[in-house]
Amino acid sequence: MENLDKIFSSLNKLSYGLYIVASSSDGKKNGQLVNTVFQLTPNPPRIAICLNKENLTHEIINKSGFFSVSILEEETPLPFIGLFGFKSGRDIDKFEKTSHKMEGDCPIVTENTLSYLNVKVVSKMDADSHTLFMGQVINGEVLKEGNRLTYDFYQKNKKGRTHKNATTFNKITEANK
Ligand SMILES: Cc1cc2nc3c(=O)[nH]c(=O)nc-3n(C[C@H](O)[C@H](O)[C@H](O)COP(=O)(O)O)c2cc1C
Repeated sequence: MENLDKIFSSLNKLSYGLYIVASSSDGKKNGQLVNTVFQLTPNPPRIAICLNKENLTHEIINKSGFFSVSILEEETPLPFIGLFGFKSGRDIDKFEKTSHKMEGDCPIVTENTLSYLNVKVVSKMDADSHTLFMGQVINGEVLKEGNRLTYDFYQKNKKGRTHKNATTFNKITEANK
């Protein structure tokens, strides 16, 4: 598409938050950084996430049928973002040194977290490189008050980079770093 640069520039004006999505299957806990989390309906409370098919978290949620979402605070340090956003659970155990709790088999990251959602997958949509997982929120809790970490704050104030597997990855956002 010859107007792809214009499309990317326009898409880069969309706003997002940053979250940890986690799940477990066969005794393996894993999670990853995600910007694509949004509420679908209020009643029943449903949300959607979009994950790259290469990610271990994608493989685990496909098997388990559940996931948690931790809503991150603005003070979240870059090494924590690096652990969940740039490293794969195929190579390291991300939960070894991360504060978390379990609700049944579902791991929930509590570190740098304002609140969390515990979600059961109700539907999936194939989006070629990614899968859109839609789920019903079966539990949620506010852990502390504070400012939410937005993608904008992460990019402008923390000078954070994106990842090739992120839904928003494009050469314009990366060239500006
Ligand atoms: C700022 C940022 C946002 C990201 N957003 C997404 C996203 O929305 N969906 C996705 O699949 N990956 C996203 N990623 C990439 C994953 O976090 C990354 O591929 C991770 O290493 C996957 O880990 P896993 O293999 O342990 O599941 C993002 C990464 C960063 C740094």
